[in-house]
Amino acid sequence: MRKMTWAVAFLLAAAAARAAIPAEQDDCLGCHTDPGQTFTLASGEGLPLWIDQAAFARSVHGENLRCTDCHSDKSSDHATGEVKFKTRREVTRAYYEQCKGCHFANYTKTLDGVHYAVMSKGNDKAALCVDCHGAHDISRPAQPRTRISGMCSRCHHAEADVYARSVHGRASAGNPDVPVCTDCHKAHDTTDPRDGALAMRTPEICGRCHSDAKLMKKYGLSTGVVATYLADFHGMSATFQKGQRRQDGKRLAAVCTDCHGVHDIQKADDPRSAVMSANLRKTCARCHAGASETFPRAWLSHYTPSLEKAPLVWFVQVFYRLLIPFMVGGLVLQIALHLWRVVVNR
Ligand code: HEC
Ligand code: HEC
Ligand code: HEC
Ligand code: HEC
Ligand code: HEC
Ligand code: HEC
Ligand code: HEC
Ligand code: HEC
Ligand code: HEC
Repeated sequence: MRKMTWAVAFLLAAAAARAAIPAEQDDCLGCHTDPGQTFTLASGEGLPLWIDQAAFARSVHGENLRCTDCHSDKSSDHATGEVKFKTRREVTRAYYEQCKGCHFANYTKTLDGVHYAVMSKGNDKAALCVDCHGAHDISRPAQPRTRISGMCSRCHHAEADVYARSVHGRASAGNPDVPVCTDCHKAHDTTDPRDGALAMRTPEICGRCHSDAKLMKKYGLSTGVVATYLADFHGMSATFQKGQRRQDGKRLAAVCTDCHGVHDIQKADDPRSAVMSANLRKTCARCHAGASETFPRAWLSHYTPSLEKAPLVWFVQVFYRLLIPFMVGGLVLQIALHLWRVVVNR
């Protein structure tokens, strides 16, 4: 909401200014329409001076914005051969500042994000608005949704390539049901995964989809994976220990991604899957040193015990379910009979 208020206020101001300089857009484009034209910066990099007029007109800003809404420092008399920017990146950094005037809410979010954090430490390659959205050809960022992974892959190819081959990535073309990068990482307030807090949140992140009955029915998948995880020792200790660590820095509990992988999640019966029966011992052994071939069987996986799966556990459960009411019932009956005797014998 706040974002729109800012945008509206700015637009009103922009509209007032526009009335005063009606032909301004044409002025700028009079010089900035030669596709070959570049300016050589002090760093030796070429700064393209061509603005693709058609792409700008099609962009989200094409109808509402003027060149000077983002280039307020410019009038038509700056073609002096001198530019205050030394490098290509300085140009980007200077004009990206303009976005915040109208998109204040998104800008504020980026201040909590990992890209801003690494940028303030001097990493000039960290993503700014323009790196993800573009400058003159901005379109709706999530249409289609697969565009999002493309935005990130420009700089994070390693993760994006692995993701593209995962069960989620392979299904992502035109499919809104599977996660793209920002479903797990968020777009503006991207958290730094290196402190482990993101991993600790995976039961919640994965659970948004994997506990959704309607969605999972479509793919024939169990909706019990989060509940069964939370009910067993790994989930219990993850819940109780909330991100605490051992002295050697290892986490005290296993989360979804420790068994399934992160960007390389596969179907549970895929030979590449870390939870496929042939690979499972190795996966457990990462934390349970010396786990034997039979070790995984000591655990129920995501199954709720039944006559077919883990019959022994099932029998013990059933036994207790019968035994406990029988004991409590017997106790109550005994007390009642006692009281009755007391009353009758008086
Ligand atoms: C007379 C031709 C001409 C007109 C009109 C013109 N420009 Fe330029 N512009 C240039 C040239 C040439 C450069 C390269 C820098 C230089 O030569 O000083 C440039 C550079 C730029 C740059 C990049 C460098 C910098 O300093 O930021 C921007 C942004 C820019 N122009 C925006 C605009 C806008 C917005 C308008 C309309 C208000 C406009 N131009 C009108 C010729 C023109
Ligand atoms: C939504 C804000 C916005 C609007 C509107 C806008 N620009 Fe830009 N412009 C930018 C940003 C941001 C950059 C830096 C882009 C980069 O580094 O890739 C830029 C860079 C430029 C440059 C330097 C070369 C380049 O492409 O990076 C020129 C020239 C320029 N703009 C001209 C124009 C003209 C002419 C118009 C009007 C038709 C216009 N701009 C409208 C935001 C805008
Ligand atoms: C003068 C105010 C203004 C400036 C400056 C501005 N924008 Fe916008 N922007 C708007 C308005 C208004 C809309 C809504 C257009 C619509 O929804 O049709 C918009 C729409 C957008 C959208 C699409 C939003 C959606 O809901 O799909 C994106 C993305 C965007 N802007 C990014 C940027 C970036 C990046 C910059 C800086 C390079 C920038 N804007 C600079 C006013 C501005
Ligand atoms: C790392 C890439 C990235 C950066 C950096 C980034 N955005 Fe976005 N932005 C996205 C993605 C992806 C979406 C689509 C929505 C989503 O996934 O949450 C989006 C959505 C938007 C929208 C549409 C409305 C909304 O909130 O969903 C606007 C407006 C916007 N961004 C503006 C900005 C501005 C302004 C900046 C800089 C201060 C910026 N973005 C920086 C990736 C980015
Ligand atoms: C313009 C390049 C660029 C784009 C585009 C970009 N990033 Fe980044 N990102 C970086 C840089 C640089 C770092 C810091 C890397 C470092 O410190 O090793 C980083 C760090 C990260 C980190 C922290 C983990 C790490 O390896 O440091 C995450 C998570 C992340 N980006 C997610 C995303 C997502 C999600 C998108 C798309 C919505 C995206 N990035 C788009 C450049 C980019
Ligand atoms: C299903 C959720 C999910 C999706 C989808 C996802 N990630 Fe991740 N990503 C994570 C988690 C969880 C971590 C932290 C792993 C850890 O703790 O070691 C992570 C870590 C990262 C890191 C830090 C380096 C690393 O490998 O540990 C980067 C960079 C990154 N992701 C980028 C991306 C990009 C780019 C995409 C989209 C192509 C993407 N992620 C899609 C969950 C996801
Ligand atoms: C200790 C290891 C481990 C942990 C932790 C774990 N899983 Fe699994 N997961 C497995 C194994 C083994 C299988 C294959 C056998 C099965 O279906 O129970 C599996 C199967 C699945 C399946 C496929 C279910 C189906 O219907 O075929 C999904 C989805 C899944 N897990 C999601 C999750 C989510 C979400 C979490 C976190 C809340 C999680 N897993 C935590 C080991 C684990
Ligand atoms: C945006 C929703 C969404 C999120 C978030 C999500 N998934 Fe999925 N996941 C799906 C869908 C939909 C499928 C089915 C894809 C298909 O079969 O083509 C799937 C498939 C899987 C499978 C393969 C199941 C099988 O055996 O066929 C596993 C394992 C899995 N996801 C684990 C995870 C884990 C772990 C996380 C969190 C780190 C996670 N998912 C986050 C939607 C999601
Ligand atoms: C990321 C590390 C990690 C992975 C991977 C992992 N575990 Fe664990 N597991 C733990 C930790 C830590 C505990 C102790 C939790 C507690 O009870 O406080 C534990 C506890 C257990 C226990 C309870 C008995 C005991 O030793 O404390 C069993 C049984 C178990 N895990 C089985 C498995 C199986 C089977 C796999 C592979 C499918 C597996 N684990 C994978 C970390 C892991």
